Amino acid sequence: MEVVILGGRQAGKLAADAIEHLLRRKPDAVLGLATGSSPLPVYDELAARHERGLDFSRASAFALDEYVGLPAGHPESYREVVRREFTSRVNIAPGNVHGPDGSAADIPAACAAYEEAIAAAGGIDLQLLGVGTDGHIGFNEPGSSFTSRTRIKSLIEQTRRDNARFFGSLAEVPHHVLTQGLGTIMAARHVILLATGAQKAQAVSDFIEGPVAAVCPASILQFHPHATILLDEAAASALKLADFYRHTYDNKPAWQGL
Ligand code: GLP
Repeated sequence: MEVVILGGRQAGKLAADAIEHLLRRKPDAVLGLATGSSPLPVYDELAARHERGLDFSRASAFALDEYVGLPAGHPESYREVVRREFTSRVNIAPGNVHGPDGSAADIPAACAAYEEAIAAAGGIDLQLLGVGTDGHIGFNEPGSSFTSRTRIKSLIEQTRRDNARFFGSLAEVPHHVLTQGLGTIMAARHVILLATGAQKAQAVSDFIEGPVAAVCPASILQFHPHATILLDEAAASALKLADFYRHTYDNKPAWQGL
């Protein structure tokens, strides 16, 4: 796990560098997309780079998660958020952008089909992640199995309250979601998690420096062979080894990249 502490916009640039590098090496790369506020600087940066010629025409993308029960086209459905914040701003083919189907009549079949689609695409090359204040990634709430695959989950009230800012009221936030499992996320070849702000400091310290435990789902990333964690100073403020992470990054050989 590599921990990098820097400003929020800089984190967006660094993650975009990794995605640009991937696309130049592998134009048909498979990207894993997160919603929420954390990845927005990455999407802004990628949209700007697309204006300058970065090509997404052969890439494909899979969303991490989705609310259950929002009507198609609802502005807060993650399919719509992903389209609005990122994929409509670059030249990725709309048919290459996938998300779990939260309006499916047969939810278990839709989840199994999503896993099959990821496998058929060759697996996810680079997965962007945020982290919830309770340590969730995707919508894998505390207690999620470390080997879980895409499935339905119930949201903890803390997560519903955190996400109510995107809706008219708390009552409008769905109770159920579909999410890639922790096992699905762990199969991505590279994961980049972004976290900013003091409200994330406890979760960040728990998953980076605490024990690997299902009560803090993001802690499973300690077992990932290529996990990059990009933090601002506020999100990093509870880390015991912050000076070590800074020193390591400042002295990292330039050829290494992320
Ligand atoms: C939601 C999403 C997660 C996201 C998390 C943090 O619950 N399902 O994928 O990482 O919120 O969101 P934010 O980046 O807005 O803090």
